[in-house]
Amino acid sequence: MAYRLSDLQLANHVTLHQLQVFEVAARHGSYTRAAEELFLTQPTVSMQIKHLTKAIGIPLFEQVGKRLFLTQAGRELFATCQEIFGRISQFEMSVADMKGLRQGNLKITVVTTAKYVIPRLLGPFCQRYPGVEISLKVTNHSGILDRLSENKDDLYILSKVPDEPDVKAHPFLSNPLVVLANHDHPLVNEKNIPIQRLAEEPFITREAGSGTRGYIQALFDEHKITPTIKIELASNEAIKQAIAGGLGISILSRHTIALEGASGKIAVLDVEHFPIPCHWYVIHLAGKQLSVVAQAFLEYLQTEGKEIAENTTW
Ligand code: PGA
Repeated sequence: MAYRLSDLQLANHVTLHQLQVFEVAARHGSYTRAAEELFLTQPTVSMQIKHLTKAIGIPLFEQVGKRLFLTQAGRELFATCQEIFGRISQFEMSVADMKGLRQGNLKITVVTTAKYVIPRLLGPFCQRYPGVEISLKVTNHSGILDRLSENKDDLYILSKVPDEPDVKAHPFLSNPLVVLANHDHPLVNEKNIPIQRLAEEPFITREAGSGTRGYIQALFDEHKITPTIKIELASNEAIKQAIAGGLGISILSRHTIALEGASGKIAVLDVEHFPIPCHWYVIHLAGKQLSVVAQAFLEYLQTEGKEIAENTTW
């Protein structure tokens, strides 16, 4: 806009406080009510409006009997005040956001399979908000439920949303569970392997309380399969090492092998009913007032974060 502040007559003679008093008086149509809302005395309100009227040079109110009406100039000034105070209030909100995002901290706990994706997504977010301190914990499904019940973190990421009304869940990213075997395994080149065939293979399982294990158990129960458990390991990495070492097959999130890709020692078997179509959710307690930082991270995950994860070959 082409103007010089020093040329604006009103800007030199009118204060923001006078405009505020006028706005409230115009809204109520009463000096007395304006005085109450602003915790001022009625003579102070009347004095401020007198100064304002003098600076503008034409009346802003007219009194008819006991009632106060806005003149045309008063109506225009009222609309102008609403715009000014609306903009100031927007500015206040963005300053609060900037302060929050500059120095906030964020606590996230994710399931073990999500640790292959989330740390990478934190990179661009931290670059954008360098003052934000992040604490990332990794635990299994039941560990997340414990932390959630104690309200320990801002956000959690897991596949199976707890069946409780006071939890809010936001879908995030698909998390397919696949059958993994050593790349030398005789089933590697077979197509559409019957699911029952898995019962004959030594099986490496995750620990009780693992969400991955819960999904596998549900599918095995549905197809009446009793796996031959060779070993139980509480770590996806340890399971991968065990598969690479020829100890047996397992079922894990596809994300766990993204880094090795097809060139690694582990192959994905083509088994019927696989992949198990899981989905990660970002969840938080419904009653929790999310911080500005947590809200920003949640939005980031659902938009850019999701896009990065879907388009990246890790
Ligand atoms: P887990 O959970 O790490 O407990 O197996 C996986 C998930 O919920 O996706």
